[in-house]
Amino acid sequence: MKKITARAHSNIAFVKYWGRKDEVLRLPTNGSISMNLSNLFTTTTVEFREELKQDDIIVNRGREEGIIKKVVKHLDRVRHIGKMQMFAKVVSENSFAASAGMASSASGFAALSMAGTQAAGVILSEKELSILARQGSGSACRSIPDGFVEWQDGATSDKSYAHTLFPPEYWDLADVITVISKNKKETSTTSGQQLVKTSPFFSTRLSQMQEKNSNCKKFLKEKDFESFGKLIEMEALELHSIMLTSWPSLIYLEPVSLTVMKAVKKMREEGISAYFTIDAGPNIHIICQGKDKKQVSEFIKQLPGVIEVLENEASKGTYIISEDLF
Ligand code: PMV
Repeated sequence: MKKITARAHSNIAFVKYWGRKDEVLRLPTNGSISMNLSNLFTTTTVEFREELKQDDIIVNRGREEGIIKKVVKHLDRVRHIGKMQMFAKVVSENSFAASAGMASSASGFAALSMAGTQAAGVILSEKELSILARQGSGSACRSIPDGFVEWQDGATSDKSYAHTLFPPEYWDLADVITVISKNKKETSTTSGQQLVKTSPFFSTRLSQMQEKNSNCKKFLKEKDFESFGKLIEMEALELHSIMLTSWPSLIYLEPVSLTVMKAVKKMREEGISAYFTIDAGPNIHIICQGKDKKQVSEFIKQLPGVIEVLENEASKGTYIISEDLF
């Protein structure tokens, strides 16, 4: 069987996915919109081997039990598609710290979906790959297509997948990620999302999501940065309001997160056009236009508690590369 290596870029959601109407198939309660990130990616090599008695998996140079279980489950989906039983050797590496709200599962499952199916001898369409990746981790379906991406919620599994709205070069946007913690998050997104309905504000949020998604697409289309920035910052604050008011409450933010959020508002007062967004973790993503990227980075680097600043632009989604990891 062939040895295949795929690279997938992580993504940052502008309109967030938080809540599922089907837990097993990972069908979301609302659509979401994101951008793939140039410097945050996962590289994964897969080879199915006759002689293996079980899957042999190494992720980020380790064999952490929780991660291995999820990879085996996803390989079972791949084996089902490929109508085969053979076990696989898998080696996967991130270009960044995993599980600290930097969407390691998004790029991880996207890369595994493409490398796994091709190693099993099956070539899936972009839509089919997105559907497969979604079942590993919801946001992974948005890391399959290139650039600026929309995941329409869809009533059934074959209608819930992501597609490109605009290619990466469409708009010179940057995501300057302020890394505050590299620790693994206490509550995974999988269990965190199961709590949404306990927030009294969730139904209000849901009733506004369609309009929010169409506004986001409109502002992207018009390249209206101020309206776009306001929408994404309000969306991130709304997401964290749902998290904070769930029970048990989900507190992903750290004191330094708040320092950075306030610094972004201060930057705007000083005339730098930048807005923040945040996933399920303490790290703050600062979205600005390419021309302001350096200035934003310099401003943020001098804040106490900031470990690292990672600059990203919009990028491709998932693709095959020729350098294998084993
Ligand atoms: O794909 P998951 O299960 O890791 O959930 C991702 C959730 C957020 O990152 C908070 C939002 C999103 O749309 O990416």
